[in-house]
Amino acid sequence: MKKLSVLLAAVTLLGCAGANKETDVKRLGFEAEARLLLARLTLVEMVGEMKQITLEHFGMSGPDGRFVLDEAKLRDGIVQHHLGSILNCGGQARTVQNWQEIITKMQEIATKETRLGIPIIYGIDTIHGANYVLGATLFPHNIAMAATGDVALMERTGEIAALETRAAGIPWNFGPVLDLARQPMWPRVFETFGEDPYLASVMGAAYIQGQQGKDLSSPVKVATCMKHYLGYCWPYSGQDRTPAYIPERQLRQWFLPPYRAAVQAGTVTCMANSSEINGVPVHASKYYLTDLLRGELGFRGLVVSDWADIENLYKREMVAKDRREAVKMAVLAGVDMSMVPEDYSFYDTLLQLVQDGEVPMKRIDEAVGNVLRVKYALGLFKDPYPRKDRAASVGAPSSRQVNLRAAQEAMTLLKNENHVLPLAKGRKVLVTGPCANKLSVLNSGWSTTWQGDQEQLYPPEKNTILEAIQEKLGQENVACVEAVTFDKEIDIAQAVTAAAGADVIVACIGEPAYCETPGNITDLAMTEPQLRLVRELAGTGKPIVLVLVQGRPRVIRPIVDLAQAILMAYVPGLEGGQAVADVLVGDVNPSGKLPLTYPKYSGVVWWYDHKASEEKGGNKFDPQWEFGHGLSYTTFTYRALRADASEMTLKDTLPITVEVTNEGDRPGQEIVQLYLSDVVASVTPPVKVLKRFQKIELKPKEMKVVRFDLTWDDLAFIGLDHKPIVEPGEFKAQIGQMSVGFTARDDRR
Ligand code: BGC
Repeated sequence: MKKLSVLLAAVTLLGCAGANKETDVKRLGFEAEARLLLARLTLVEMVGEMKQITLEHFGMSGPDGRFVLDEAKLRDGIVQHHLGSILNCGGQARTVQNWQEIITKMQEIATKETRLGIPIIYGIDTIHGANYVLGATLFPHNIAMAATGDVALMERTGEIAALETRAAGIPWNFGPVLDLARQPMWPRVFETFGEDPYLASVMGAAYIQGQQGKDLSSPVKVATCMKHYLGYCWPYSGQDRTPAYIPERQLRQWFLPPYRAAVQAGTVTCMANSSEINGVPVHASKYYLTDLLRGELGFRGLVVSDWADIENLYKREMVAKDRREAVKMAVLAGVDMSMVPEDYSFYDTLLQLVQDGEVPMKRIDEAVGNVLRVKYALGLFKDPYPRKDRAASVGAPSSRQVNLRAAQEAMTLLKNENHVLPLAKGRKVLVTGPCANKLSVLNSGWSTTWQGDQEQLYPPEKNTILEAIQEKLGQENVACVEAVTFDKEIDIAQAVTAAAGADVIVACIGEPAYCETPGNITDLAMTEPQLRLVRELAGTGKPIVLVLVQGRPRVIRPIVDLAQAILMAYVPGLEGGQAVADVLVGDVNPSGKLPLTYPKYSGVVWWYDHKASEEKGGNKFDPQWEFGHGLSYTTFTYRALRADASEMTLKDTLPITVEVTNEGDRPGQEIVQLYLSDVVASVTPPVKVLKRFQKIELKPKEMKVVRFDLTWDDLAFIGLDHKPIVEPGEFKAQIGQMSVGFTARDDRR
């Protein structure tokens, strides 16, 4: 054990000292304006501001897919019940014009027919682009964006998603998801930036910057909402919205840092975890929602509940005996706005609680102040209306180009035996499997509908994988037999027969579209009909290329050796079919790296930052593919890894350099990853932890020196007392297969 322990004053990602309050205040000031307005509000108006109701409550879809408002109901909500916020899409994506009409009507009623004219704040799930605006750019989901390792691209996609959302008149996005993919069964893995806290922190912060920019009132920016704070992603059972058991150290080491980074990046709203940690529903926890979030992370924005989750405190979690107790618990814990979402029960109940003196006015002042400051920051008091001239910006060709690049950069080549890829032009191909010819599987949940499974709602001009391959290789060279669905065999024999006439088989397997709890599974293995299809095709002796279209890593161990090449496409969005084909034929050199550990077995969960004991004394760390794995059509070699000094002290930065060379004859991009190992520590150290990454592009034979500057804070971990600590001693930096050691010395004494 090392002798000296140094408690850190402030740590960038792990630290517990009050985060960067300045950025947050700068973005969400408006204290004085909110205070002045608050003083004029009556209690009923205040309680109304804290309530959010779903759009379905105020109308319905017409036969042409347009949402038709029931104005009487809307007026009742806004004028009689002083509604502060409305959410969701009323079932499916709408045209930008329909959105503009809806929002305009709401704001007209709110600003012209209520006593103080407070605008509505409309919120929506813009999860991978403005997925509820027809014609919008639907990007790869976050898990695929994390695979790109391209931070600037992440920010750019955030910008486009924001401008397309705001063009519809919607100023508030319920994203980014900052949960981690540490439970591979969880149906929301695809919404995350993978398993690593640092990667999720960097990508999440870039997205927030892209969406919010410097001025939230800009007609191309939206307020972001970090979610689902905190620990939602680690259900013990793997099923959505079920209990997590998280030791304080893991909570702080893994799950908290992305939220800290988001607060530092200036996110102005936060959504609470639907479920519980260690038996404590987050919606009922003052510790999580106030002490940790506001006290420690320095968050100063608005906290919104998740869908019906105040109700769930007495209906599902059973920590409250009735609605009254549930509302009291949640509001006192720190929830500022209730996504009720279907009636005025929260409003009536909270009103009564305040009148009975069970919820103090001070708490209501705080909560409403938080709501109003976000409305001010968004410029809604000045101009709450959609800008008609912005409608044309939705789905711009330049945005499509960014989307295509994102999908291309996400593609992660996991295996490529004997260089079976790229496919030579002129080859005959059999395309098969349930993901071959559908757009829904490329987009999955949060795409035109919640579940994303309505194939007919996707733009027909977009290419499926099959269509994109046909365009590349010529229809006459490409046969297609779907052969199986996800859970049923249709005609495997027909696929086997068709394979006889092909040079290569491209089997597109994976998962159907799903979202949240309906996406629960009880077995991580790829479904049997899909495995069987590949097994039978392998019998033909023709080379097999697997394309994996999936939101979480389904176990494919039984067929890995039967395939010569394997491409992980994740859920790559509307340009995903094109991007897959680009990579298969070599028009694009793949550069994605796995943002999670790809499991080999259903029964073991491994992460890349596991402990040494997991690979010693008869144990074996044996995933299918490691976090950070991803091949290229060219070869990169790493040489001359150097630490600038053999010792690092408190104020130093330690430059680590490495030479990366493209040895091959085609250009390529490479994500250079720096990992750090603490050789000995008072808490068993992980074998390695990702500390930096950088995506570079190299021409054939080109060499670049990549430099990363490590700081003292990078050496920290959450210590025995649950506080960040650096223990001086030996460290090892690792890039590629090389490592270099250095000593950390505390020079303060
Ligand atoms: C999800 C949230 C989402 C909300 C509103 C909930 O079911 O958990 O992520 O923002 O619905 O649609």
